[in-house]
Amino acid sequence: MIKAVRGTRDLLPPETALWNFVEAAVRDVFRAYNFQEIRTPIFESTELFARGVGDETDIVTKEMYTWDDKARAASEKGQSLTLRPENTAGVVRAYIENHLWDRGLNKLYYIGPQFRRERPAKGRYRQFYQIGAEVIGPASAGSESPARDAEVLEMLATLLDRLGITDWNLELNSVGTPADRGQFNEALRAALDPVKDKMCGDCQRRAVTNPLRVFDCKVPADQPIIDTLPRISQFLGGESRKHFDAVQEILRSVEVEFHVNDRLVRGLDYYTRTAFEFTHGALGAQNAILGGGRYDGLSEMLGGPAAPGIGFAIGEDRLVMSLKETAEGVLRKPDAYVAPMAGMNGEAAKLAHELRRHDLVIELGDDAFKLKKSFEAATRAGAKYILIVGENEVTADVFTLKNLATGEQVSVPRAELVRRIQG
Ligand code: HAM
Repeated sequence: MIKAVRGTRDLLPPETALWNFVEAAVRDVFRAYNFQEIRTPIFESTELFARGVGDETDIVTKEMYTWDDKARAASEKGQSLTLRPENTAGVVRAYIENHLWDRGLNKLYYIGPQFRRERPAKGRYRQFYQIGAEVIGPASAGSESPARDAEVLEMLATLLDRLGITDWNLELNSVGTPADRGQFNEALRAALDPVKDKMCGDCQRRAVTNPLRVFDCKVPADQPIIDTLPRISQFLGGESRKHFDAVQEILRSVEVEFHVNDRLVRGLDYYTRTAFEFTHGALGAQNAILGGGRYDGLSEMLGGPAAPGIGFAIGEDRLVMSLKETAEGVLRKPDAYVAPMAGMNGEAAKLAHELRRHDLVIELGDDAFKLKKSFEAATRAGAKYILIVGENEVTADVFTLKNLATGEQVSVPRAELVRRIQG
């Protein structure tokens, strides 16, 4: 038997209804904040992620699905391609390539699959889905303002609220400007130098090339050493501190609760200043439901104009997991099962068509079924009513409608069926 590849999975009904419920709420809430949808390609040139996400990150060094795409004609060049491990780099590439600033497009969102070759676990897949949003634009359009950071965080709190997810925790930090981080990296290098030989191989390398990435280490034996390292909060310059304070002040005024966590550095290199994660208690080890932050230099790093930005990505798989207990009401069962008697498939199809036009969910049977089998099928489908379509019913234009839960049975004229079933 051929199986789905490790770390990938089929999303099946009825769970897909939850995914649709989440995505409909997302589109609705993001719309109210004036975000519009962007869809970028699922694969991009490898260089985009190496430069954007960062050469020393776990994503780029270990987790990307990369292949050599050979030239198929003399006019083509072969190139290295990668399935996108995240969507921010793709959005910023699209921003630059399409001159989106000229069209005033500075608030974009996306929903789609991402790919990372991680060790599969509960809540961690190799193909997973993200719902993300990015605010990006020239500083003159206000994209650097702490008001944008707070607005994005408030939008997330509103979305989670709307989905009935209450048990979340917002962890907030500032990772400073590149200048702040330069000093921080020097301090880390100095602190790591005498102890790095006791650390894992990855950390020994990071201690030299990109010491900040030591904070991504998950090796238990390294954690006591990491606990003793300096914190970024000690190295924030005046501008970073002012920006961070302003974000916090707005969050307080819109009553979004947060905890400052100065260990939070995030696993991607493009972050500057505000960085955040929302965690959720019920998720276990993979408890980060979403993450994001500012990336003020990313556009320039990818060859574009100065365009400060901030955004986030929600792990949709994890969001749906944390929703499951509260989501019973989302799963819509058929309102009625239309059961044709012998020779009545045509009339039954006509009636089902009419009812469906009124936004009723109708399961249509088959006139080859005996009445008993129709009842069994209606019950298995979870239908509320069964509606019997026989010759007498069609002639009289009055139908038998039976409530499958209560057993109550009534005769209803065709013109009143919709109202009766809706009621
Ligand atoms: P990230 O923290 O790498 O950030 O991913 C965001 C979220 O995607 C995580 O919090 C998690 O919920 C989900 N996620 C990541 N990896 C997996 C996986 N293997 N399986 C299931 N879910 C996963 C980013 O991707 C940034 N692009 C976010 C961003 C947007 N920053 C600024 N703008």
